[in-house]
Amino acid sequence: MQIFQDKQSLLQALQEIKAEEKSIGFVPTMGALHDGHIALVRSALRVTDKVVVSIFVNPTQFNTASDLDKYPRTLEADIALLKKEGDIFVFAPAVSDIYPEEDLFAPFDLEGIDLVMEGKFRPGHFQGVVHVVRNLFLIVQPQKAFFGLKDFQQVAVIRLMTKKLSLPIEIIACAIERAPNGLALSSRNLRLTESQKEDALILFQTLEFLKKLTRDFSPAVSREKAIEFFKKGKLELEYLELVSGETLEALDQNWSADSTCCIAAFCGEVRLIDTTPL
Ligand code: PAF
Repeated sequence: MQIFQDKQSLLQALQEIKAEEKSIGFVPTMGALHDGHIALVRSALRVTDKVVVSIFVNPTQFNTASDLDKYPRTLEADIALLKKEGDIFVFAPAVSDIYPEEDLFAPFDLEGIDLVMEGKFRPGHFQGVVHVVRNLFLIVQPQKAFFGLKDFQQVAVIRLMTKKLSLPIEIIACAIERAPNGLALSSRNLRLTESQKEDALILFQTLEFLKKLTRDFSPAVSREKAIEFFKKGKLELEYLELVSGETLEALDQNWSADSTCCIAAFCGEVRLIDTTPL
């Protein structure tokens, strides 16, 4: 494993990889790695010759200074985990490497898919995500990039950005990794107490409850019932939406072939999201 803390040294090493005509797989992360990230890394290792994992807590995608401050930073543990996976390039750059003064990024038209759900409650979040992922893509220039489906809307946004910029990168979405009790793995879980982890199970339980309703009820009615079910738990709901997986448009009377539920809630101060195809 090699660790690069500046862009120039990574670019130099990648040049050698490209000269050997080896394919590059990329797993962008904000660190605090868990088995969900490791599953992405393993998928990348299976189908590409050299895997680059970036670890960069991106300031432009946080809405509040306190959320950014509290985001877990565990670089040494992250490196130890990655070391076990293989001969990986770890890229842990400084802010100035990702956002140089000559950065030509301008706010990006995401056709409204950045304004619903996460976008509604975290204004500007997806512009920050698109900005950092675009800048990382331009540095790493992978053939394939791997993202977890827990961030369902993020995957849709990144696919659209990649298409609009005509970047020759295949976006590979990987299944959510869950604890045996169903809790979706997330770096934010590190901030939960044991009893909050129990409380947070209401997210998964609501998704499971919802799956049983789709045959008998419309999306509108199912949504109401699911919200009622969710409210029996202790979390504070931010949104629970039933959307078309492709357009992210809210479903009302009819289900679509790719109906998806996305949910976000606060467990104490920690904001959690979860999702499932229905
Ligand atoms: O999903 C994440 O961890 C981040 O949003 C990403 C894609 C690494 C961009 O900062």
